[in-house]
Amino acid sequence: MNHFDLINGVLHAEDVALPDIAAAVGTPVYVYSRATLERHAQVFRNALSGLDNPHLAFAVKSNPNLAVLKVLAKQGYGADVVSGGEMDRALAAGMAAQDIVFSGVGKTAEEILRALKAGIGQFNIESEEEGAELAMLAGSLGLTAYAVLRINPDVDAGTHGKISTGKADNKFGVGIDRAPEIYARLSALPNLHMRGVALHIGSQLTSLEPLETAFNKVGVLVQALRDQGHIITHVDLGGGLGVRYRADDNPPEPAEYGDMVARVTKDWGVRLMFEPGRVIAGNAGILLTRVIRVKPGSGNAPFVIVDAAMNDLARPALYDAWHDFEAVAPNGQKMLANIVGPVCETGDTFAMGREIDPVQANDLAIFRTAGAYGATMASTYNSRGLVPEVLVDGDKFAVVAERISPETILAAEHVPDWLK
Ligand code: LLP
Repeated sequence: MNHFDLINGVLHAEDVALPDIAAAVGTPVYVYSRATLERHAQVFRNALSGLDNPHLAFAVKSNPNLAVLKVLAKQGYGADVVSGGEMDRALAAGMAAQDIVFSGVGKTAEEILRALKAGIGQFNIESEEEGAELAMLAGSLGLTAYAVLRINPDVDAGTHGKISTGKADNKFGVGIDRAPEIYARLSALPNLHMRGVALHIGSQLTSLEPLETAFNKVGVLVQALRDQGHIITHVDLGGGLGVRYRADDNPPEPAEYGDMVARVTKDWGVRLMFEPGRVIAGNAGILLTRVIRVKPGSGNAPFVIVDAAMNDLARPALYDAWHDFEAVAPNGQKMLANIVGPVCETGDTFAMGREIDPVQANDLAIFRTAGAYGATMASTYNSRGLVPEVLVDGDKFAVVAERISPETILAAEHVPDWLK
């Protein structure tokens, strides 16, 4: 459920008419709904109510906007971060350092040192090499780092290849077969307190089966580690729960996920940790765009050229992702169209041969389910500005990330003296 609905024939975000946002901020612009973010945060938490004190860490990569993080911090969420930049955002949003998990396959020594000094609650180590470096760096500061070892369970998540992370040939974690020996060596290091394991097999999972298979493998591993004498207190089950992008998508409900987790982990005796991203933010945001013009195509579907492009919303170009397209003031009829942006490559295509609300030049429209992996993946390709973000709360809204103009970007570039 989300709060982007028609009121008197005009799409609103909560109680704000989208044309009012377009008039005030221009287009393209991302629009987030606070009520939807809060609802999703609560639904996910409730789904895990059968567990003992689960730790919820919002995957900042899915939507790192400071105001969005603030909304989730107020909901009691911590953060899963994968860079120093994300860590700074989570801290700036008021999340406690203790509630932040530092993931990522390529943490630099500088990032690790900064995270140690900030008192980050847990490092999710992705290799023996990283664990050794973490121990050494913690020692240099006279600190102890709390860590879990990310394992790669070699399970096919059944999602797009570019967002699968749990197959043996993916770069993430250590192979589950090698985990016991690596865990033993890391546990022996000073300044490193190993307390469990982590996994994350991929994103936009539309079936619980691969998750259950992977969790069961982790359960076996936890027992094997305990048999070796290790004290396992934490298991981080990652994120990955999919959302509905189109009407016939049928992702698992958070409650079904929660039931499965409770059943599979009931004897583990650990604190479970979660890193949801998309399931919280995905349907809490839309990308508002304006039709520049409509031109005939080769068949019977015209090209609807909108002012949003692949630099603003990269998912269709990168993963052939589907985002519903709707007119802000639909008239109830339908037309067949190809929806494209202004960027000069064919990849800048949002949909081909899609049945959509009829639109013409200057009409406003939205791409739905753009709250996760939307603005954060924007670029300035084709020397376009960086897309702004707006947060709606009831009948008020605020710009929570400014549009960064092409002029501002140009001003940060310099021609060296020797070239003048
Ligand atoms: N934890 C880890 C270690 C992750 O790598 C990710 C996502 C998450 C949690 C959050 O996963 P979620 O709950 O959002 O599925 N740009 C792609 C998605 C990349 C996901 C990367 N990792 C897209 O637009 O579909």
